[in-house]
Amino acid sequence: SHPVIAIDGPSGVGKGTLAQYLCCKTGFNLLDSGAIYRALAFGALKSNISAENLPGLVNLAENLPVKFVDTSIIYEGEDVTSKVRNEEVAAAASIVAAIPEVRAALLKRQKGFAMAPGLVADGRDMGTVVFPQAPVKIFLTASAEVRAERRVNQLKSQGVSANIVQITSDIMARDERDRTRTTSPLVPASDSVIIDTSELSINQVCDKAIDLLWK
Ligand code: CDP
Repeated sequence: SHPVIAIDGPSGVGKGTLAQYLCCKTGFNLLDSGAIYRALAFGALKSNISAENLPGLVNLAENLPVKFVDTSIIYEGEDVTSKVRNEEVAAAASIVAAIPEVRAALLKRQKGFAMAPGLVADGRDMGTVVFPQAPVKIFLTASAEVRAERRVNQLKSQGVSANIVQITSDIMARDERDRTRTTSPLVPASDSVIIDTSELSINQVCDKAIDLLWK
């Protein structure tokens, strides 16, 4: 099997940036597992499948018409890259992600990303559930304030207006849901290296991760 670098942690810790950096450095493939949950939530909202409609959600998860092309997310032929990034979809993603049957339905698809020469997997349960055998597991953390600030800056850079108070409360609600759900709660794998990024620049985080790869 191919080597996997698992990167887990809550929203706004810089997982996506680190994952892209490590992909460039290693030539590995990328799995943005959050994008799969977001695509599922997007599809459910689009097709009016409610969070209570378990068979509907599982069926959609098993046949999710999403494709990842370069850095774009294509849903039923439509480029939804920016649409799936909004907070409505993020909140819906964390609600459907709490359903055990939904997570089970997405497991195989996620494992399928582990192709040659290797994979950088970004998510919440990459090191604990999806790729427990990953030789490198990184868990990123940061204070809620720092994470909300980063998310606001990220949204602004995408031309989306954002309110720091609203974003902070959205992030905290989502984290709470991700941490307290019974299936695959957001916890560091016991063999992961935890990096607190609150006081670190992107470059410093990337340097630390590169050091881990050579250990
Ligand atoms: O961009 P951000 O880190 O805020 O979120 P994301 O990684 O795109 O994930 C969106 C939501 O999907 C999270 O809040 C989780 O509830 C869920 N998710 C999950 O449960 N398991 C994963 N491996 C990835 C995401």
